[in-house]
Amino acid sequence: MSITELIIRRPDDWHLHLRDGSMMKAVVPFSSAYFGRAIIMPNLIPPVTTVEQAAIYRKKIMEAVPDNHDFEPLMTLYLTEATRPEEIWRGVDSGLIKAVKFYPAGATTNSESGVRDLKNVMSVLEKMADIGLPLLVHGEVTDPEVDIFDREAVFIDTVLDPLRRRLPELRVVMEHVTTTTGVNYVVSSDKNLAATITTHHLIINRNDILTGGIKPHYYCLPVAKREKHRLALRAAAVSGDARFFLGTDSAPHLDGAKECICGCAGIFTAFNTLGCLATVFEQEGRLSKLEAFVSLNGPKFYRLSPNASRVRLYKTHDPVMSPEKIKTADGPVTVFNPMFSVYWRAENIAEGQN
Ligand code: DOR
Ligand code: ZN
Repeated sequence: MSITELIIRRPDDWHLHLRDGSMMKAVVPFSSAYFGRAIIMPNLIPPVTTVEQAAIYRKKIMEAVPDNHDFEPLMTLYLTEATRPEEIWRGVDSGLIKAVKFYPAGATTNSESGVRDLKNVMSVLEKMADIGLPLLVHGEVTDPEVDIFDREAVFIDTVLDPLRRRLPELRVVMEHVTTTTGVNYVVSSDKNLAATITTHHLIINRNDILTGGIKPHYYCLPVAKREKHRLALRAAAVSGDARFFLGTDSAPHLDGAKECICGCAGIFTAFNTLGCLATVFEQEGRLSKLEAFVSLNGPKFYRLSPNASRVRLYKTHDPVMSPEKIKTADGPVTVFNPMFSVYWRAENIAEGQN
């Protein structure tokens, strides 16, 4: 008998871009409606590099959360070669900072202030290893000689694995893992390593970006790879393995910034992520593992409790329609189109009805 209803702990999103200003105001409610917490990416312009900036950003996010939503932004700092270990300690000690984001300089959107040479951030990483603060890694090399489809595998060999050998106590999340190599690397480690997987990398492969015309709204970084990699990501996500959890990497850009001669990387999935994921897990015959992926594995790695409240997912008779775009005060943002119909809707379960 097919499953038509699922009650799960309220999910969390362990990798989310909320931006700033009117974009932030427009996108926050889509995440806060059904997600309890989210790890907030710090790649604003200028990047969030200090505890003070993170506190101000957090306050602005909270102001954009509708009154009847229950949402906690978990703040991160953007690692630069000027970051001091004392800043990290101050952020952790105050309870505000939950992780540090490592962008190799030039790897993706607003990563220019990122790290050029790991040896320049070693004292910060040593401090993080000491206190158990997760390092969230954008795992791609930026060497122009390395093919874009190989950048994750080369990063693991030349940056991540040497780093983890040098600092085995450093707790690392490989953000938005996209390849069999990435999945296998995570599986082969026995401690201090986990990975987030995005909604879109479970659904699209590189053909979806490049066949029948170029599709800028499927372009993101790391770029989607060939089909065998998508299948490996799906197998990892639905396996229940606690080392894999949801980080949507929902990354809204105005349509004008994507539909142009040099379009930005990023896919806006916050609008329909839960419905898309329920469909993926249903297609895999593993709806029973959805709660582990979206609600349990992430808090376990971050040493937090799962959310107390619950969300009901139920199957609908007619497809749940998503708009093609949402409006922001600065212009439209295209919503991720999964290219399949979604028959799952989410509903919050009021306290006391659990
Ligand atoms: O596709 C992406 N968009 N990947 C990233 O790493 C950054 C993100 C963004 O900020 O737009
Ligand atoms: Zn991201």
